[in-house]
Amino acid sequence: MIILGIDTSCDDTSAAVVADGHRVLSNVVNSQISLHHPYGGVVPELASREHIRNIVSVVKEALSRAKLEVKDLDGIAVTVGPGLIGSLLVGLYYAKALAYVNGIPLVAINHHEGHILSIFLEDDVPPFPFVALTVSGGHTSLYYVKGFGKYTLMGQTLDDAAGEAFDKVAKILGLGYPGGVVIEKLARSGQKDRINFPRAYLGPDSLDFSFSGLKTAVSLYVKRWHQNKEKRASVQLADIAASFQEAVIDVLVKKIMKAREMSGVDSMVIAGGVACNHVLRERLKDIASENGILFSYPRSEYCTDNGAMIALAGYHRIIKGEQADLSIDARSRFPIQDLAPS
Ligand code: KG4
Ligand code: ZN
Repeated sequence: MIILGIDTSCDDTSAAVVADGHRVLSNVVNSQISLHHPYGGVVPELASREHIRNIVSVVKEALSRAKLEVKDLDGIAVTVGPGLIGSLLVGLYYAKALAYVNGIPLVAINHHEGHILSIFLEDDVPPFPFVALTVSGGHTSLYYVKGFGKYTLMGQTLDDAAGEAFDKVAKILGLGYPGGVVIEKLARSGQKDRINFPRAYLGPDSLDFSFSGLKTAVSLYVKRWHQNKEKRASVQLADIAASFQEAVIDVLVKKIMKAREMSGVDSMVIAGGVACNHVLRERLKDIASENGILFSYPRSEYCTDNGAMIALAGYHRIIKGEQADLSIDARSRFPIQDLAPS
């Protein structure tokens, strides 16, 4: 079964062709990083206009790399939310038109589900159940994953997402966008224990996150640092980056381990853009091997937003007979609890 997956939830125009919910025949991502770079973050209006410019060529490229035509598709899976509404609408209406004109079944996908399932694009897949931490620019959530379509939200961020904190702190430090990549690179030459930034654990049993206080703490520290010549001589920008990154990672690691312990499973998965971070991966790898836990993460191109994870999620819904009505609308907010069980 051949599924085309389309995702335009944020700033990447993505389309992919996936066979039988696993074999990626093509995965095309048109990044808008250079467009948003001068603003230090995604500008929604610019993002949706850029999606309009690119959607046709990105889908064409995905089909051409897969050596297939529209008539070969058994289904079209498209992200309907959550995300930037103007951006979502571009992918959704393009997918609707393509499905309607060619008589192909359409299936509506929740972006969170795509990230949770992205590990199944790899050859080594974890057995169910497992705990998944999806951590990106738009979300930081913990799920108990019992099977395809069977997710229980265990905790989520109460304010900023972890990737958003990386992006905002990179802007404060004058490092550019996207923040995660530049902070990770700079942090390599910094001392991670140079500054003790706050970690919001929100109580011993909480699985929720909060990163806005950390962002404010970095902002206040940087203001004082700029004003104080002696401080600038003893603390490098790289030390601030490394200490900030360490604070985020400490919280993420502690929470996923707590979620694993509370749910009693011995397998954990991370996904989403922040899951590209090598320090986070290495830390969890070490802890997992010390504790006899299975730890998995998808390759980086499947961690950041992509159409392949949407096609994969679509496959598991289409084989169960699910199909979206052409009147379906985009949703800027789309909690996983609202998903129809597949
Ligand atoms: O999953 P994604 O592509 O888009 C969303 O759904 O948000 O994630 C993008 C986020 C950005 O906030 C970016 O700063 C972060 O992932 N990110 C990283 C790294 N690479 C990307 N954060 C930390 N370390 C990285 N290496
Ligand atoms: Zn995402």
